[in-house]
Amino acid sequence: MRRRRFLATSLATGAGLWSSGGLSLAAEPKSERTTKKGESKMAFQQPQLPYALDALQPFLSKEQMSYHYEKHHAAYFKKLNSLVEGKPEASLPLRQLVIQSTGGVFNNAAQAWNHTFFFNCLKPKGGGVPQGPLAAAIERDYGSLQDFQKALADTAAALFGSGWTWLACDQKGKLEIMPLGNADTPLKHQREPVLTLDVWEHAYYIDYRNERPRYIEGLWNAVNWDFAQHCFTAAVKQ
Ligand code: FE2
Repeated sequence: MRRRRFLATSLATGAGLWSSGGLSLAAEPKSERTTKKGESKMAFQQPQLPYALDALQPFLSKEQMSYHYEKHHAAYFKKLNSLVEGKPEASLPLRQLVIQSTGGVFNNAAQAWNHTFFFNCLKPKGGGVPQGPLAAAIERDYGSLQDFQKALADTAAALFGSGWTWLACDQKGKLEIMPLGNADTPLKHQREPVLTLDVWEHAYYIDYRNERPRYIEGLWNAVNWDFAQHCFTAAVKQ
């Protein structure tokens, strides 16, 4: 718990993870390749959650976050490690493995990466409004923050079945809302993720049951605009 709080502080202040390499480190911390005490070494290790399990209440309860992070996210890492054990893919950075893999390895690698990205898109006492270049790009491409939020919410509500609603951009910073099914990610479409919302039922069903629109609405009180802004500026600089 002490370590989790330290990492939460590092992420919240922008120190450490963000300043030492940008998006790839934020979504794929160096601790991924280290081992926790008493654990055997695995190719891919689930990063620590950047806040406590109960820190996103009332948007997401401790029970909801516990199932999502400790059961679902952990299971993708466990399955991925079993699939790549002893194979060359085990030595790839996770992001690269997502980009070049297919089938079961892709499904589990992408879900491992997507969830790490998603958890970084949220923060305790989040919300507010974006600043800087991202705010300007939202206004340019969607007219206003309110229009963008409605477009993303409508897209997320309409996504059939399991998947993710992404805000992504190209290298010039053109924004695009992408509804993608199952484990699919903008990384497979030559786009850089800026923000995402997990709309698999496992992400919200304990707290919201079948009311996906109410879960989507809650995002705006927990969104981590600083992280999204960081991802956007890093993508445009590439
Ligand atoms: Fe999920």
